[in-house]
Amino acid sequence: MTTPDMPWGAYAPGMAQLPGTQVPGTALPGTTPPGMAPPPGPPGLAASQQPPGEPVPPGQPTAGSAATRSGQFTPEAARRDIPVLQRPVNGRPVVWLDNGATTQKPRQVIETLASYYATANSNIHRGAHTMAREATEMYEGGRAAVAGFLGAPSPDTIVFTRGTTEAVNLVAQSWGRANLGPGDEILVSTLEHHSNIVPWQLIAKERRARVVPIPLLPDGSIDQDAYADLLSFRTRLVAISHASNVLGTVPPVKEMTALAHRYDAKVLVDGAQAVAHFPVDVQDLDSDFYVFSGHKLYAPTGIGALYAKPEVLAGMPPWQGGGNMIDQVEFGRVTYAPVPHRFEAGTGHISGVVGLRSAIDWLSSFGREAVAAYETALLGHAQQALAAVPGLTVLGDAPEKIAVLTFTLAGHDPMTVARWLDRAGIAVRAGHHCAQPSLRHYGLEAATRASLALYNTAEEVDQLAASLTQLQSLTQLQLQGAG
Ligand code: ALA
Repeated sequence: MTTPDMPWGAYAPGMAQLPGTQVPGTALPGTTPPGMAPPPGPPGLAASQQPPGEPVPPGQPTAGSAATRSGQFTPEAARRDIPVLQRPVNGRPVVWLDNGATTQKPRQVIETLASYYATANSNIHRGAHTMAREATEMYEGGRAAVAGFLGAPSPDTIVFTRGTTEAVNLVAQSWGRANLGPGDEILVSTLEHHSNIVPWQLIAKERRARVVPIPLLPDGSIDQDAYADLLSFRTRLVAISHASNVLGTVPPVKEMTALAHRYDAKVLVDGAQAVAHFPVDVQDLDSDFYVFSGHKLYAPTGIGALYAKPEVLAGMPPWQGGGNMIDQVEFGRVTYAPVPHRFEAGTGHISGVVGLRSAIDWLSSFGREAVAAYETALLGHAQQALAAVPGLTVLGDAPEKIAVLTFTLAGHDPMTVARWLDRAGIAVRAGHHCAQPSLRHYGLEAATRASLALYNTAEEVDQLAASLTQLQSLTQLQLQGAG
């Protein structure tokens, strides 16, 4: 089947197999559209020619690409796995610098999804038949994989959700409704995404509690002195991002958590922008709650997870009712399933879990520390390259930050900048980035953001800087002409 409007390489049914089971030649084609350079990497080694892994039956841990990797991480190795990076945008090879919004998907994940539906689709937990058992094993195997990925003590501490937003809402509506009362305070850092602000505002209003912002310093760090002053025995919960989606700031979450615990407050960490970029260990952080989204982790949209400490999760009431979350239902009485199933009403995103597991395997196969070190080096390169663009100001210069560069360009509104870059095939985000308090800290309502991932290269960053410099030069010439 060829999709007419996708000339860079069609995806055909029957290509996909469960990870590690692909028949050589049946993987996504490493097609290069006419007029485009082949993807970077060793000459002659297309994606479809990667050595296949060992066959893995459904329900067993997926091999990802781990078996094919050795030595140091290179972005080229990652790029070879990402089919969409071969497509052109506006006549140029796409430069995907919108990873904060969503990451691109490796062929291992795409093939896993297709293979799941082609060979294994079934509902879970309900059936006595073979395919239901297999799908259940795959789903629960995904839970164990997420637990391992986060350093959680057990799979039972992981609740699948639609993503970070739903996970925060779950905690607010379940734990919050049961534990917040009049006069209680929820400390929320000014760095937070709206999804880690608004759910707290909603439950605070209902429970007559208060949301109290923790201010930022000029460099985009959380003001630790102000935080220490704001904490009190009225504080019931602290909500902090593990990495800001606008400023890139990585706060000292472990230290902030230890301080909150002195006041018996719980801590929820938003890991949406963190988990793809550096290793996370929820037990080392001592997080009470840790949430993340799959789609920012090279996995499908619509799947994410909540980690909660076992004793905290056990004490939380259900927040949505339905199938899958009950033990016994009578009209006069209902009892609930044990955690984590108590929080997963209805049929979950089974293929999403399978895809998430594949993405975790894929990312982990590169070595998490190696990826983090590469991205830190790329951030340094990007900071230097953008510093040379006339009139460009990067927001946020915290000592610890991920490779997120949100900037203003003198004389241009952020949307104009993003559209200009799009003409060169460079995808960035413009607007308020769903984090208005972070931008207002700098007196802004909007900015342009380049957010980098493991498959981005120094050459792509240089293209970004060159395109922005070109925009400034053209504007200067136009102004001179007009003068
Ligand atoms: N939260 C996503 C972003 O930062 C959508 O772009």
